[in-house]
Amino acid sequence: MRLENKVALVTGGAKGIGMEIALKFAKEGAKVIAADMSALSYQNDNVEGVILNVADNNQCKEVFDYIIEKYNRIDILVNNAGITRDGLTAKMTDEMWDMVIDVNLKGVFNLTRYVGPQMSKNNYGSIINVSSVVGVFGNIGQANYAATKAGVLGLTKTWAKEFARKGENVRVNAIAPGYVMTDILKTVPQDLLDEFARMTMLKRLGEPEEIANVVLFLASDESSYITGQTINANGGMRL
Ligand SMILES: NC(=O)c1ccc[n+]([C@@H]2O[C@H](COP(=O)([O-])OP(=O)(O)OC[C@H]3O[C@@H](n4cnc5c(N)ncnc54)[C@H](O)[C@@H]3O)[C@@H](O)[C@H]2O)c1
Repeated sequence: MRLENKVALVTGGAKGIGMEIALKFAKEGAKVIAADMSALSYQNDNVEGVILNVADNNQCKEVFDYIIEKYNRIDILVNNAGITRDGLTAKMTDEMWDMVIDVNLKGVFNLTRYVGPQMSKNNYGSIINVSSVVGVFGNIGQANYAATKAGVLGLTKTWAKEFARKGENVRVNAIAPGYVMTDILKTVPQDLLDEFARMTMLKRLGEPEEIANVVLFLASDESSYITGQTINANGGMRL
């Protein structure tokens, strides 16, 4: 049990990669709060679903207060909730730009501004931000998404410094997954997915569990001397 008695908050934990993370954490002994716009698509005694729009700061504060009241602390935060609204820059509307920034970037800031300082106070915590291969290399038609996922890497390094200012045992890392078959890829044509698979050294897309395994490592004390880093879990992909 690598997360015994830990309290973990996973955003976007209702399905996809977030669901795999929540279930893996629960199996390793954590009490998991899966915060999502939608209700959970599964049931597990150690995973509690709460409805949250991470883009709404007031809701984030309410969920934070609720968890502290009920569980006393948050040991692990996984900022996983994310969306895409793809389009070439010339055709990208303000709405497409704002929506993605609000969820993928502001949403990460909204929760972490409460959770991070609480971890510093407790002298314990691990924050994992879910970035993307697109934030590392960029991608045609994803200016908004790439900006948020690159932005999250800046936040990761900043918070690794800020929340451990006095040497507190608070670590902040990022994972940059390659393409993983979940609903977020629903609008991507199959020929493009095939091309993405060919662009990896392993010649395939990733599985949600392969991402969750890395997040578990970063959440657990097995990674106790790793902070401010990004792990690229992309099968050896270059865009
Ligand atoms: N699947 C991939 O290929 C891939 C690759 C790189 C990075 N990622 C990142 O991984 C993360 C998880 O994506 P996924 O593939 O599981 O997608 P998904 O669409 O299957 O799941 C995303 C979850 O986030 C939730 N969500 C969306 N907006 C929200 C909001 N405002 N507040 C709270 N929850 C919200 C959704 O309801 C959903 O449950 C995202 O940040 C995504 O950008 C995915």
